[in-house]
Amino acid sequence: METWNRWIASAILAMGTILPSSAQELATIPLPPMGWSSWNSFSNTVNSANVVEQAKAIHESELQKAGYVYVNIDEGWWLGDRDQQGNIVVDAKSWPAIEPGERDGDMSNIVRYIHSLGLKAGIYTDAGKDGCSTYPDIGPAYFHTGSEGHYEEDFLRFAEWGFDYVKVDWCGGYKENLDPAVQYAEIARAIARAEAKTGHKLYYSICDWGKQSPSTWGAGIGGASQAIWRTGGDIVAPVVVGGPHTERKASFEAMLRNFDANYHPEAEHTGFYNDPDMMVLGMPGLNASENKLHMSLWAMAAAPLLIGADVTKLDANTLADFTNSDVIAIDQDAAGLQAVKVGENGPGLEIWSKFLARSGERAVLLLNRTYFPAPMHMDWKDLGLSGDHAEVKDVWSGDPAVAVNGHYEATVPAHDGILLRIKSSEAPVVKHYTPVSQSNRMSGAETHFVHLAQTGSGWSQIKISYRNASPQGAVVDLHTNDHGGTRVAMPPTGNATRSVWIQVQLDQPGNENRMVFSNSGRASILSLDVY
Ligand code: GLA
Repeated sequence: METWNRWIASAILAMGTILPSSAQELATIPLPPMGWSSWNSFSNTVNSANVVEQAKAIHESELQKAGYVYVNIDEGWWLGDRDQQGNIVVDAKSWPAIEPGERDGDMSNIVRYIHSLGLKAGIYTDAGKDGCSTYPDIGPAYFHTGSEGHYEEDFLRFAEWGFDYVKVDWCGGYKENLDPAVQYAEIARAIARAEAKTGHKLYYSICDWGKQSPSTWGAGIGGASQAIWRTGGDIVAPVVVGGPHTERKASFEAMLRNFDANYHPEAEHTGFYNDPDMMVLGMPGLNASENKLHMSLWAMAAAPLLIGADVTKLDANTLADFTNSDVIAIDQDAAGLQAVKVGENGPGLEIWSKFLARSGERAVLLLNRTYFPAPMHMDWKDLGLSGDHAEVKDVWSGDPAVAVNGHYEATVPAHDGILLRIKSSEAPVVKHYTPVSQSNRMSGAETHFVHLAQTGSGWSQIKISYRNASPQGAVVDLHTNDHGGTRVAMPPTGNATRSVWIQVQLDQPGNENRMVFSNSGRASILSLDVY
């Protein structure tokens, strides 16, 4: 009997371990972009010479091999002039020919150079008439550096120049009191048309600093198949007009502030990511352990990893921080979910858990925000794992960490964190639900799941199995209990059934939780597995 019980227990456990991982079932999703951006270090003094230097440094260091491929030109590349036909006029001195036969003042020069290194190129504009260059900065103010009224031509021009990525800021939109959800959707459609005409993809970076909650409307906006949206203000404090570069300093406080503002686990999934801003790691202002913590925080958030430092000046330790493959693997995990806070050991002592695509695996950050070293502890059950035995690795040291009976404890230094990767078993109770009502393939269709069991006050991970036979992604509105709505994007699956992961709060007692997917259009939602 005893043996039989044990057999049943291990069979249930095995079911738990098989269900979430069947990796071939996961829809393939775009992972958070990795690269470099000019803004944090160069502000509006960006030009061809410094972009060439940075691209070269990325190419010649380990950064490119580690996955940092985007070289993004931020504000300052354009002074707001257009010719009589409305085409952007580029300053010939800042963007001269690089190779013989090229024309001065043609942005495709720098794109060709970046591409010649095997890297990708990013460009920048604003959704309004004016861009952010009207604000005080290192250089003089420039007006009309926005694309409003020229969406069609500008995004087509970016694609024709060969850019692979476009960041769209909100200074003009904000000034004119425009609705970001409307403008960014219109821009997404202009991008799609430019892509269709040129056959060239533009990754979409929405930068409205979290105004009007892009986490609720960003996924699949205007038909976009991938995007990031900024969730807060700038991580680097504004510079004094005419001030030197050294004014642009990183701060521990701003790093945590942006990490906190970025906490929208209900939104991040399927290739659509919250963006806490470009990193300040490696810039003056953070010490060695704060640099590592910065990388841990961004990886836990599955944030875009965009380096803001001057790459030519990085020391060996900082380069090693940026290129740590175990940390990058956490950021780039195939489930595409961000870490959720699962507990506190006291004020400022937080336990964060990131659900990973491989069954029974979690990344965990024990975060000490305080000025004192602190003993911290956590149990596997806080992470939704079962089993006393687990492999625990301290990600930064690479050492196996000591864990006993489903429990881990350690002293975490002040202003620091311990990043762990844990391999154990999923808790055996995995609940599978099928819809109670569904009408498919009609715009306005609704799929209802009711009587879902409570999973505690925190976040549940939900594997949605669905089918989307159309060539485009589908975007579905989701309401869970009485929480605010959000959007779930579902990439095409052909005739196969695939799955994507989302996170929701099933916080009603008993079996009184419900999830309603509406406006489901192209996607048939077949079932939910709740963890
Ligand atoms: C805004 C953005 C920054 C940067 C600057 C450029 O503040 O949030 O990331 O692009 O504009 O002016």
